[in-house]
This record gives sequence, C-alpha cells and structure tokens, in this order.
Amino acid sequence: MDLHRGAGQVKDRDVSKKHLWQITEAPFQPERLSHFETLFAVGNGYLSARGAFDEPYAGASPATLVHGIFNQAEGKPVPELVNAPNWLPFQISIDGTPFSMNTGARDWIKPEGGALLGYRRALHLDSATLRREALFRAESGNTVRLRFERFASLANPHLLGQRLTIEAVDGSPHIQVNAGLDSDICNQAVQHWRSIKTVARDSCVALTATTSHSPYRIALAAHLTSSADVTASAGEKRATLCAEIQLEAGARASFDKLVALFTSRDAADPLAAAQEAVSSAAARSYDQHYQAHCARWEETWARNDVEIEGDDRAQIALRFAIYHLLIAAPRHDDDVSIGAKTLSGLGYKGHVFWDTELFILPLLTLTQPTIARNLLTYRYRRLAGARQKAQEYGYAGALFPWESTDTGLETTPKWSDPDADGLRIRIWTGESEQHINSDIAYAILQYWRWTGDDAFMLDKGAEIVLDTAVFWGERAEWKDGRYGISRQIGPDEYHENINNSVFTNRLAQWHLSQALDLLGWLGSRNPATARRLAEALDLSASRLDTWRAIIDKMHIPFDDDKQIHVQFDGFFDLEYIPVMKYEPRVGGIWGLLGHERVLGSQVIKQADVVMLMALLGEEVGSRTVMLNNFHTYYPRTDHGSSLSPSIHAWVAARLGLPDIAYEMFERAAAIDLEDRQGNVADGIHGASCGGLWQAVVFGFCGLHLTEDGPAVDPKLPAHWRRVTFNVTYRGKAHRFDVVNPAV
Ligand code: BGC
Repeated sequence: MDLHRGAGQVKDRDVSKKHLWQITEAPFQPERLSHFETLFAVGNGYLSARGAFDEPYAGASPATLVHGIFNQAEGKPVPELVNAPNWLPFQISIDGTPFSMNTGARDWIKPEGGALLGYRRALHLDSATLRREALFRAESGNTVRLRFERFASLANPHLLGQRLTIEAVDGSPHIQVNAGLDSDICNQAVQHWRSIKTVARDSCVALTATTSHSPYRIALAAHLTSSADVTASAGEKRATLCAEIQLEAGARASFDKLVALFTSRDAADPLAAAQEAVSSAAARSYDQHYQAHCARWEETWARNDVEIEGDDRAQIALRFAIYHLLIAAPRHDDDVSIGAKTLSGLGYKGHVFWDTELFILPLLTLTQPTIARNLLTYRYRRLAGARQKAQEYGYAGALFPWESTDTGLETTPKWSDPDADGLRIRIWTGESEQHINSDIAYAILQYWRWTGDDAFMLDKGAEIVLDTAVFWGERAEWKDGRYGISRQIGPDEYHENINNSVFTNRLAQWHLSQALDLLGWLGSRNPATARRLAEALDLSASRLDTWRAIIDKMHIPFDDDKQIHVQFDGFFDLEYIPVMKYEPRVGGIWGLLGHERVLGSQVIKQADVVMLMALLGEEVGSRTVMLNNFHTYYPRTDHGSSLSPSIHAWVAARLGLPDIAYEMFERAAAIDLEDRQGNVADGIHGASCGGLWQAVVFGFCGLHLTEDGPAVDPKLPAHWRRVTFNVTYRGKAHRFDVVNPAV
C-alpha cells in the first residue's frame, strides 16, 4: 500500500533513498503501541505530540508536552511537565461502525465491529510528518481507505495540522467524523488541569484550563474544513466538531483540522490568542500551512543532515536521532530547556539534567547556535536557584540542581517510587551529583569557542562559569596535603557518596583553571565587566589564590603501577564482577543483582572515566594511559544508562579501537529504535541521540578545533564510504566531506 504524498511534501530527494528518511510500522503492531507513540512524536521546538492514534485505545498514552508548563500536584514530591489537552481526537464511524483497529478499545467502541484489512504508518523525517493509511471494512460491508496526516508547524509554532481523507473503496458509505479537543487527560493518573472551560462557535471550538498549583493557563482552538457540513458543540471537558457525509462509490472526502495552542507564557489571554490564531489560520488552506512547514524543514535539514554512505541502518538511526532533538529544541524561547526524554514522553517528569549540556547541546552549538544560546540562557535565568542550593549546603557561589524545571530549584525526588514489594530507594543524585556545575561550564565554554559569541559570554556566560567555580573553590577540602571532594556521585550512579570521583575532581580542577583564564580575558577585553563580576561574586585575591592552590594540589586518583586513573578512592577494593558473565541481557546489571550488591561491586553504570576522556581528550593523559583506562573500565561497564554506549563509541574510535567503536555505535543506535533499554514508552533518550551525533562527528570523523578553525581526523568504520556534514564556526558554514579511502 502506497502512502499518499501531501501537497507540500519536502522536495523529492533521490527517490531510491526515500527509505532513508522514514521510520515505518507495517503491519500494525498493537503490542508496541507505546513504543511507536514515542518514536512517532511530531514537534516543532515549542511542543511535541506523541504518536498516539487519533482514535482511543486501551493502553494508549496520548501526550502533548509544551515547554515550560510544569505543575506539582497535591501530595506529589516534585513538579512535572504537564500533559496538555489532547488535540488529536478524530472519532470516525462508517455506516455506524466506529473505526477502530480492534485492540481492545474503550467501551464506547464496539470492539467486534468492522475489520482492518491493511495498515501502514510512517514518520517522514524530512518533513516531520506522521502519516497512516488504513483499509477498513465496516459491518455494512462497505470498505474505505482512511489516510491520516499530522504535523506541528515549524513555520508557526502555535499551529498544528491534521488531515483525514476517507475514500469509498467498495460501496457508498455514510461517514461521520468527530474532531475534538479533550481536556480529560492526565499524567499517569495525576490530574493537573482545573477550571476547564469549553467554547463552540461556527466551525470552531476551543477550550482552556489552568494548572492546579502553578500559574499556567493553556488554550487550544480548533477549526475543521470539509466538504461535509460541520457543527460545533461544547461539553464539560471536550469540545467537538462534527461532520457527516454520504460518499458515492469511489469518492473521497477530506477533513482538515487546524489547531492553535497558546499558554499564559506566550499570551496574556491564551484563549483569545488561540481563537484568533485559528481563525486567521483558517483563512489559508491546510496545504498552504503544510507547504510553509515543509519549507522550514528543508532549510533545517540543509544545515543539520549528516549523510552516511555505506550503512543504511546507521543513516536512518542518525537522522532519527537528529530529528528527535530538532523537534524538541526551543527556537523562540530562552527560558526553557530540553528534558532528558525530550518532549516525547513523561519519563523523568520532563526534568532537565546534564544530558542537555553535554549530550544534546554540542549538536546545536555546532549547527544551530541560536538555539544553543537559548538553552544556556535558560541556565543563566536560573542562577538564583543555583545560588540558593549552594547556600543551603553552606557554600558561596552557585550549585545547579541535578534535576531542573521551571523554578531553577532542585527537583530531584529524594525517594524512588515504591517497587512491587513497596520498597523505595533513597535517591542521592540531587545532593551529590555536583559535577553538573562543570558540565554546564563546559557547555558554555564550548559554545563560546565555536561561536565566538563574546556578547553572550560578557552578559551571561561568564557569570555562570565564575559563580559555579566559586562553589568548587569552597567545596574542595584540604586534607592530607592535597585537595579532594568528598561525598560525590560521578556519572556512574551505581556508586553513591564516594570520595574523590576522578571525573568530578578533574573537571572541577579544569573548571577552576578555565575560570581563571576567563577572568584574564575579561580583564583585558572588558575591564568594567571584570570589575562588576569580581565585586558581585566576591572574586577576591585570596579566593583566586585558593583556586590556584586547588588546581595545583587537586587529588586526581591514579594508580602509578598500572598507569590508570582510579574512578574513586577504594574503587578497586570492591567486588569484581565481570559484566560479560551476564550477557546477553536486556537491562542493566542493577536489575539482575540488586541495588546493594551492585553498590559494593566494580560494575559501572555508564561512561565515567571514559566520559572524562571524551570531554578532555588528551588532556587526561598519554595515549597509553587512555588506552589503559579504556581497557580497564570498558569491561566493567554494563551500560545500564542509555548515555553510555555513544560515548564509548566516540572514545573507542579516537583510540583506534574500531570494532568496539562500531559495536557501541550500533548499540546506541538501537536504544530508541529497538527499545534496547526496554523503556522507550517513557520517551526518547535525548542524551543518547545527541551522543550518537557526537560519536559520528567527534568520534568517527574526528572533528576538532585548530588555530585555523574546524578540521577532521577521520577514523570511519571500515564499511562506511563517506560521511558528509555541516557545522558553523564563528558564523561561517563549513561543509565536511569525509571519504574512506579504503572502500
Ligand atoms: C543517568 C544519568 C542521566 C539520567 C537522565 C540516568 O539513568 O545515569 O546520567 O542524567 O538518567 O537521562
């Protein structure tokens, strides 16, 4: 069955390569309902909508997530990103038979009615469009072909579009379509919306609602264009546009639904804004809106595509990863950031982690720097929360929250949700995963180096880098003739409250030395800013002397005999468990051996020392030390976190370990597409997507900065013929065409 092509389809690329731009589901796989909901999200950087079906199914989790709309419901320990009212509903009946794919639909649909004769669904990455085609026979015996299309406009972030086309294949069916807006929606049984109001007028309906404990108001308005007559009605929580038509044999009818969505973050009166926006959008055709959307995606891919020749699976996986980051990347808002699960699922409650700065941001810094600046500005606007956290722990300076939301306060829950036996585990990351400070500083310095955006550095970046350094200057402890940092959690979260995490100590040392260099630059470049910050942050001579002493005397755990870094004090005294013993396995070893056993073992959750090598490269040590480190830690790592494989691929490629590099790359590429961690239902692993891009660009292609600008040092997998990509360095586009001479 061939999917129809929408009027404004992104220009046909080489048709034989069309499949490299699509993720397809055919036939229907009801057992993977929530997996595909995540994969098939559409979005535009303002919001994303999971790929839930237009009609309801048991077990479906439709979610539209809008950046910045958080709420902490009564009795809940932390705030979460709120699931917006559902704009997707299309309930269709053919000669009175509800269209359903019979997976055990809600009771208002007769599960036994009708039959699904054919099905195909595809996410078109080039045009960010989700399309579905279904062949359906009603109980009357009449057969129809239904085509569904949806997009979140990249040309107008408040505009969403759906087109439904129904064609009479056999017989002359009577069609009824209810297109709706539905505020009867929650986050896994948690209700966030109150004060719901619905409105119906002409061919438009609207609804508005307010979050229960935060100050956000949301409004959606919908318009339906059809050759059928449309009537609007408003219920308690739903508003519906209803259209009916008798189709002649062979005829088709289409139903174009345009939806506008605003929140009180964008408009003083979101309901009026949404109603106005949908009315003015309805003055133009669906096709016009879709064409504008496609044109923006064409521009976007011209910058962002990475072409891989010689490995179709890698090509699709990388485009898929880039797509998911681009649909979550806020283009028009510098007061929001990207959560660990992007906007594609409710996992981690929409909270923002280091995933953004070290995994996702590099792609944006190098290809879409204005979006990268938005994300860094989000942190700048939350310095007050970071200062409050540092102060609560008794230190000056700023300590960013491990999990961050709209407020900038620490929002890591202190306890896990109870397991089947009611057991809860204490979560220490909010207190102890303090390397977040240097992760953010790293991202700012990387952004600055690549963009040369001095204005950002002077106005915002420097204050973050310096005030987070102030925290380290106070936090480092002098003991036994050296500085150390106690009670930390490094990237490897299987080891809690350990002393002298080599990742944390080394990054803090690096951070302090970068902060001193930055002060030197500020002094010569803009003495007024240097003075302002020195005064505001109390950068006294004695404080700076302490920084120098810490840099000089920081304890970097190292085993001289083995010539390796030691992940933390006492790491090698723990039980040695060869991770290979438990292959093949689906989840992490933590799930197999339990919390306590893993805590007391050398099993590592994710790249830790290896992550340090990715970030600081040869600054970490000689090639011999780096290889020793890799060969020590790689066999101990169970990749219990999705952040791990891509970083291993990157580092292994640089170290000249091509087999491991490719194996790790493939593993990272499968995390979402094949649900390698078993939790894609909760949302896309944003960090892994960004890591995959870095594995290719920094790892296999060896992109780095020289005094003359960006350059590559390729170490492509043996069967890759070529990789082509673009980056922007200091406002100028650079195109790299990396060819593998051996293929
Ligand atoms: C990882 C963290 C990560 C978080 C959110 C955890 O499992 O260990 O490094 O920040 O997930 O993705």
